[in-house]
Amino acid sequence: MCGISGAVGLNDISQALYEGIRNLEYRGYDSCGVALVNSKGLVLKKNIGGVEEFYRKENVLRHKSRIGIAHTRWATHGKVTRENTHPLSSSDGAFAVVHNGIISNYRFLREKLAREGFHFKSETDTEVIPHFLEYFYKKSKNVEAALAKTVEALEGSFALAFITSHQPDQIYCAKRESPLMLGISDEIKYLGSDFNAFIDHTKNAIIIDDGEYAVISRDSYTVKSLVTGQEIDKPIQKIEWDSESSKKGGYPHYMLKEIHEQPQTVNHALEIPASLTDDIVDLIVESDQTYLVGVGTTYYVAQFGQYIISNLAEEFLPAISADEFVALAKIDKGSMVLALSQSGETYDTLTALKYAKSKGAKTAAIVNVMGSSISRLVDKVVFQGSGPEICVISTKAALSQIVLLTVIGLKLALRKKLIGKKEFQKQIDQLKELPEIIHAVLNERSGFIHRIAHQYYKVKHWLYLGRGVYYPVALESALKMKEVAYVHAEGMPAGFLKHGTLAMIDQDIYSIVFVPPREDKELYQATLHSIEEIRARSGFVLGIHFDERGKNKDLFSEELILPPVSPLIAPLLQLVIAQLFAYFTATSLKRDVDKPRSLAKSVTVG
Ligand code: G6P
Repeated sequence: MCGISGAVGLNDISQALYEGIRNLEYRGYDSCGVALVNSKGLVLKKNIGGVEEFYRKENVLRHKSRIGIAHTRWATHGKVTRENTHPLSSSDGAFAVVHNGIISNYRFLREKLAREGFHFKSETDTEVIPHFLEYFYKKSKNVEAALAKTVEALEGSFALAFITSHQPDQIYCAKRESPLMLGISDEIKYLGSDFNAFIDHTKNAIIIDDGEYAVISRDSYTVKSLVTGQEIDKPIQKIEWDSESSKKGGYPHYMLKEIHEQPQTVNHALEIPASLTDDIVDLIVESDQTYLVGVGTTYYVAQFGQYIISNLAEEFLPAISADEFVALAKIDKGSMVLALSQSGETYDTLTALKYAKSKGAKTAAIVNVMGSSISRLVDKVVFQGSGPEICVISTKAALSQIVLLTVIGLKLALRKKLIGKKEFQKQIDQLKELPEIIHAVLNERSGFIHRIAHQYYKVKHWLYLGRGVYYPVALESALKMKEVAYVHAEGMPAGFLKHGTLAMIDQDIYSIVFVPPREDKELYQATLHSIEEIRARSGFVLGIHFDERGKNKDLFSEELILPPVSPLIAPLLQLVIAQLFAYFTATSLKRDVDKPRSLAKSVTVG
């Protein structure tokens, strides 16, 4: 999983290219590189490390060029070394290629090229591409023909781009499964894995579809079919996000900024046209079985949906982790798959949807990124409108999806006449209170959460516990802790504890328990029982609860008390608190919050 950027213009594009890959760093950041053109031919600069560090150390901006491509890498094939960093060049040095995706038959292709006398300098799957371009160019003396022939040989997924000394004024790019788009302005034509590569310069984008390639130059662009070579008329789409919302706006990290943006993103989710969520409800009603699918955070969002919809609408929609979907789900024409995805590009989720489609099932998705692959694949799509989420750790996008699933659950309950219009409106009004409550809690409790996080940041093992819908709160909150702070945190149903895990309770295992409001009587009582079980073994319990101070004085070792709220929004508020707790633990541990290790924002490989 990697980020691709490209630019061609009248004047120097080096700065634009730099900003392009820097804005794409959330897609991968273990190494990066650029290919430019000067009077002597192609110039390649690359090294391991993040974009800023690379540009500074190698003094890259000194190299002026009117055309160039750049890449930020998240290693899949081959270690993090300079040799494996993109761009990768052909043996004769005439082609420089960047690639995102996986060439699944690359071993076979390497052997084939080796027999033709090509030598490989890297361990990557990508390096077969420049060598093939050279090989086919020598036969046809035509760059586009060489591109079409090369792509024909490739199995797997790719978004690729290259420049060549044979046509030094043009950038060539092609796509199958991995995302790729063009940015169109009068002075410069851009290329990117997504809008963030060029959003500072233009909002006019052309989305390249599977099986298409494009040739861009200073003042023109053409998109063609890889199979027929025919030109394709592509509409220019306006990007609705503004470039300011992609910036940090005074916060030390995007993660903190995005946690604080949640009141707005919840509002946006609640303002989405009713017809869009109605369409999803129609699909659920018409189908024999609906599955909720996502992976990572969005799998936990799906689990939230599973509980919320079961509770509100008495309908069991199983949540399945997208990577397990094909192995587990029984799909036919009567099925419906509702996918959750921030990026709309996640390989596992795309694979699940394609499988469902191949079996004749209906598909729908709640997605944040417009124009993304998932949004274009499904029968019905809801764009959640959360704006760019830059931090690799998902916060605001996940919460908005949970809110939308709650709206869908309420609508389904209304449709099934389980609640009347009055009750429906009452619950929607409760949801509408959430933004203001989050805002107030973030203002009033951030300092306290910071203090607690700093006090316990050296804890090595956390158990995150909750019952009912508080179980997905525990799962997602534990994932935040693992992802951003690299601290062992295990989400578990609180009732499961007594089936073995209690044996581990000692002074080294700390527990966080998500306690429901008292009104949720049975769940509340049962959760308190679990806490007693831990306390009876002298275990530490941080309780996140809604009771007034001193109510259960001896129950908790530490407590984080929230203002009383309705049971509908209580778990959502606790999730926000847990996001902040993970954030402050990570800052105490001096982690690289926005770019945590071994993680990429959208995993477009299997
Ligand atoms: C990766 C990311 C996670 C994300 C998951 C799903 O694993 O690292 O943070 O939750 O993909 O991504 P999506 O874009 O489909 O929501």
